[in-house]
Amino acid sequence: EGFLPFEHEPYFAFAQEEVAQQQREAYRMVRETYVGRTFPMYIGGQPVEGGETFEVRNPADTREVVWRFPGATPEQLEEAVAAAKAAFEEWRFSDPMQRATIFKRAAELLRARRMEFNAVMGLENGKNWAEADGEIAECVDHFEVFARETLKWAQGKPVYPVPGEHVTTVYEPIGVVAVISPWNFPAAIPLGMSLGAIAAGNTVVWKPASETPLSSLLLVELLFEAGLPRNVIQFLTGADDVLGDPLVDHKDVRMIAFTGSKEIGCRIMERAAKVQPGQRWLKRVMAEMGGKDPTVVCADGDVEAAAVGIVQAAFGYAGQKCSACSRVIAEDSVYDELLERVTALARGLKVGSPEENAALGPVIHEGSAQRIMAYVERGKGTARLVLGGERADSGEHEGGYLQPTIFADVDPKDPLFQEEIFGPVLSFTRARDWQHAIELANDSEYGLTAAFYSRDPAKIAEARRRIHVGNLYVNRKCTGALSGTHAFGGYGMSGTNAKVGGPDYLFWFLQTKTVAQRY
Ligand code: NAD
Ligand code: ALA
Repeated sequence: EGFLPFEHEPYFAFAQEEVAQQQREAYRMVRETYVGRTFPMYIGGQPVEGGETFEVRNPADTREVVWRFPGATPEQLEEAVAAAKAAFEEWRFSDPMQRATIFKRAAELLRARRMEFNAVMGLENGKNWAEADGEIAECVDHFEVFARETLKWAQGKPVYPVPGEHVTTVYEPIGVVAVISPWNFPAAIPLGMSLGAIAAGNTVVWKPASETPLSSLLLVELLFEAGLPRNVIQFLTGADDVLGDPLVDHKDVRMIAFTGSKEIGCRIMERAAKVQPGQRWLKRVMAEMGGKDPTVVCADGDVEAAAVGIVQAAFGYAGQKCSACSRVIAEDSVYDELLERVTALARGLKVGSPEENAALGPVIHEGSAQRIMAYVERGKGTARLVLGGERADSGEHEGGYLQPTIFADVDPKDPLFQEEIFGPVLSFTRARDWQHAIELANDSEYGLTAAFYSRDPAKIAEARRRIHVGNLYVNRKCTGALSGTHAFGGYGMSGTNAKVGGPDYLFWFLQTKTVAQRY
């Protein structure tokens, strides 16, 4: 009935000059239309200003302020939670078909504006064309997937019958969901969490990362345009001391859906456990956190394919993905050949501005560049530097441009092997044999993604059983999960294994009611 079949949104072919030209034109239009403006927040469907505004800077050249956003006040946080609470009383009973129809309409609206959204994201977080396009295409997929999921969960589930009773199991929404998101996927990640909430019939207070608020705001406004009642999502921007702990602690917040660092995820988990005066439930916490994702290459693996996959997964978006490959673990007999091939490919990556579609753009800001360089400097004393290791020459641009960096012979105890660096830094570690390689892959507190390259069915079967991650990719790179297909979320300290885009995701935002009726 118009909802099936499902197809993933195809990516743009930027190699074709006319498509590239359209993306350049979208940048020109975004610069003309958006740069220099101050944008609003939304409370109860109304655009509102805040206290003081803050600046959003272009990572490609941090001297450029691209736009400004309001800093919410504590009173506005109260108003937003109250508005979400009031809106819940209506939205909770909304027709799932109405929700699905809104999402389908939003998918159509976004399809027509993908290039514009790509350009906005590029100016906020420094993604090049293809990286931004992958994320915006994922947003279209999310709309399509959640349209279907909302209908699926509305049907309830069958139970084993008992004579004399009519028994149903139905799923009901839970209340106000606080959505808190990172800057590295400022569109797809908060959209996934927010759609999960509203597809289930909840209302939302959406708090984007302060580096990237416009990529989020445009999606909120798109949902309004698609017909979402405007009080269902409140959109607040501003400082963490106003919107962090106070939002998490709020007695009327029923659930926190968070994606970001381990540090903040753990903090939220701890604070949400405390029952506040007047709070009538135990808060639910979804906390999706970092990764230290390995690629294992066995002696019988396809070295060339592995090298290409590793370079894409390690240096795409300058390694600033929770799913990025940051550890290569290769069997002794292919180690040197693989290292050489990966190094050659990485050496060829052009460092430069994402707006000009360079392969390797800047990291998000100077603080991040310095943190990454501290790992690199330390690594020079503990491992063998084979590529990079310095800041990159970025011509006339001022920003966190770093050379693609590769360390070899990294000890498993080294911070290079254990800690999430979140930059273009890759470490190689030698394994005695493929079983040892799997052991090393599992030697991490994280467990988000992993790639495994082998042609041997027995080794692949063992990897499938033993590699301790939420997303295992065999003979392909470890980034680029597709909504609806590669349900995303990790093990261990990578978080709560929420599995966004998967068949059970909506359950996170629902509670289950059993009704037994006798006649
Ligand atoms: P971060 O944890 O610093 O910030 C995430 C969000 O939390 C931001 O909106 C921030 O303003 C907010 N925040 C800050 N203090 C808070 C507090 N006390 N209470 C509530 N919220 C607070 O993370 P980041 O630097 O924006 O993002 C990078 C991290 O996100 C990396 O660790 C990366 O691996 C992780 N990440 C994980 C996934 C995943 O799906 N597992 C996806 C993307 C990014
Ligand atoms: N979902 C993103 C990926 O798979 C982080 O790369």
